[in-house]
Amino acid sequence: MNSFTYYSPTRVIFGAKTTDQVGGHIKHYGGTHVLVLYGGGSAVRSGVLDRVTESLAAAGLSYECVGGIRPNPRLSFAQKLVDEYQGKGFDFLLAVGGGSVIDTMKGVSMGLSCGSPIWDFYEGKRSLTANLPMASVLTIAAAGSETSASSVLTNEETGVKRGVNSDFNRPLFAIMDPELTYTLPAYQTACGVTDIMMHTLDRYFSDSETDYLTDAIGEAILRDVMDAGLLALAEPDNYTARSEIMWCGSLSHNDLTGLGHGRDFSTHQLGHELSAKFDIAHGASLAIMWPAWARYCCSANPRRFAELGRRVLKITEQNDEIAAQLTISGFEGYWQRIGMPVRFSEAPEIGVLSEELLSELAHRCSYFDTRTVGFFRPIETADMLEIYRAANR
Ligand code: NZQ
Ligand code: ZN
Repeated sequence: MNSFTYYSPTRVIFGAKTTDQVGGHIKHYGGTHVLVLYGGGSAVRSGVLDRVTESLAAAGLSYECVGGIRPNPRLSFAQKLVDEYQGKGFDFLLAVGGGSVIDTMKGVSMGLSCGSPIWDFYEGKRSLTANLPMASVLTIAAAGSETSASSVLTNEETGVKRGVNSDFNRPLFAIMDPELTYTLPAYQTACGVTDIMMHTLDRYFSDSETDYLTDAIGEAILRDVMDAGLLALAEPDNYTARSEIMWCGSLSHNDLTGLGHGRDFSTHQLGHELSAKFDIAHGASLAIMWPAWARYCCSANPRRFAELGRRVLKITEQNDEIAAQLTISGFEGYWQRIGMPVRFSEAPEIGVLSEELLSELAHRCSYFDTRTVGFFRPIETADMLEIYRAANR
């Protein structure tokens, strides 16, 4: 196990009806004037936003609500919020939603505390030095942003989707009320399960095979979220299934599953180009890219894939090369079963792509030939092109 620092300071308030405690927790952290952010309207339709504002009012807090954040959240919207709310005296930010709302909140925090333009942080031109106190009421288990150090926005002018990692992005607390996820459409539940799996898989494929506890935690999360995903799709208001998915979502992306080794994240990088170009849901982009990445990179260490399959998918094949291929088809088959696309042609937003577009995706993913991505097997533009070609079926 390599040396590591583990820092996951977000307080988790987990359980049914915890939503109604949000005002008290903000007060505990000293918030008085709260900017509440939400998405395209599900929080209004489900009544969650009303419950949140009632709780804020009961705690004696003033607040303003602003909605309209969309999936694959846009830089321009986050920057507009910064410009609009600068100097208005808000001392606490609250996201009511999923990764898109939470990531926008983190972008707003950057602008209000460190100045504009916020894209500088995403491009790595400036580093974060402060933040505003912030928290979330999570309505979809997926991105893990409720405890993560990341924020991911899309610059729609340049078609670039970028993330910024900093401990200043870590929220103070997260309300995780599994009942809030009962209203999720099946497709969003499946996208969330896929993203949770990928936060684990993108860390599992690393430079080390002796991080036994870290591996075991990752394998348990995979087994659990896959079973719970099937149950939640069959019974959307099954509390046990929704709880398991929600807790897996945070543990898969609060760095616990990567301790002691490097993180690959090639699939995420390849997938971000698809979301930036075609506005496809993040989870769906990953279900397409992982099988193509895995088949391309498997030869770097087939035994790693084989052992994962034996431990998670109960594969009994003893030959590592064959077991590795069964592992890849096993995950691919699971995603098909829960309704995810696993190739471009199955995603209505994408379809079959021209060679020119595949090349553009590869060049963008390598920041125009200036970087390689990945740890398990570092990939450069030519590799990315082959992987995109493999997904283009
Ligand atoms: O916008 P509304 O109307 O609220 O609808 C949302 C949205 O359409 C809907 N939804 C959420 N909760 C619901 C609900 N519908 C009914 N009932 C509910 N309870 O679900 C849709 C997707 O929401 P979104 O917030 O986009 O989902 P997710 O949490 O998957 O976030 C995806 C974003 O997070 C980024 C992704 O790239 C993507 O932009 N990620 C952020 C990470 C991070 N900050 O650590 C890491 C991830 O790898 C990822 O990159
Ligand atoms: Zn993800």
